[in-house]
Amino acid sequence: MHRRNLIKNFLKFSGSFLLISIASGFTKTKANKQKLPLFNNKSNKTMIQLPSLPYEKNALMPYISENTINYHYGKHHQTYVNNLNNLIKDTELSSKNLEEIVKISANDSSKVAIFNNAAQIWNHTFYWNSMKPNGGGVPNASLLAKIESDFGSYENFVNEFKNSAISQFGSGWSWVVLDEKDKLKILKTGNAETPLTNPKLKPLLTIDVWEHAYYLDFQNARANYVDIFLNHLINWDFINQNLIK
Ligand SMILES: [Fe+2]
Repeated sequence: MHRRNLIKNFLKFSGSFLLISIASGFTKTKANKQKLPLFNNKSNKTMIQLPSLPYEKNALMPYISENTINYHYGKHHQTYVNNLNNLIKDTELSSKNLEEIVKISANDSSKVAIFNNAAQIWNHTFYWNSMKPNGGGVPNASLLAKIESDFGSYENFVNEFKNSAISQFGSGWSWVVLDEKDKLKILKTGNAETPLTNPKLKPLLTIDVWEHAYYLDFQNARANYVDIFLNHLINWDFINQNLIK
């Protein structure tokens, strides 16, 4: 009897220990989850994270395939994030948010790789938001009036945007920006260059003209990709949101 009680007590003790272990493990997991860094969080030792897409990966079909998004967002964009986190690890930049890192590293010859990866993260996030399912076509009346006032006509805007995107030699971006006189402008940048670093310009919209943005769907026909972007994908709401920021 005495022996049976000993075994009983031992089992009771082991059970309690197991329950406590599970409970503390769960608490630890939960706490870790809560401590996960947020995008642009300024607190120390945070990591830059890949922002969520503003739509499903197949939402831009049939114009931009899920395959392109899988590579472009899932591989290219993610790689810039991984590279940047490795480059700024244990440096003073690890406590900065993405926009600060882009601006600090711009025009600093010792931080070229940091700038390239940081700017590419920012540019790509801006690009995903520059498109939407069922986008494209003519903007709403107030933005249309602004375009007509600054470019002479909507057709002029379309032609200038297309020329800018098509004529960017090699990899780069074409942008709609607001200049210091509150006038809409179109400009192009090479590689990772971004108007974010120019305090006189406010970026409003962009199209990625790196080949990885369109090659799987359009092969070398960049002009077709730019046409599709204007006719079916451009997110005028994003320009409007940026204009009032
Ligand atoms: Fe890209």
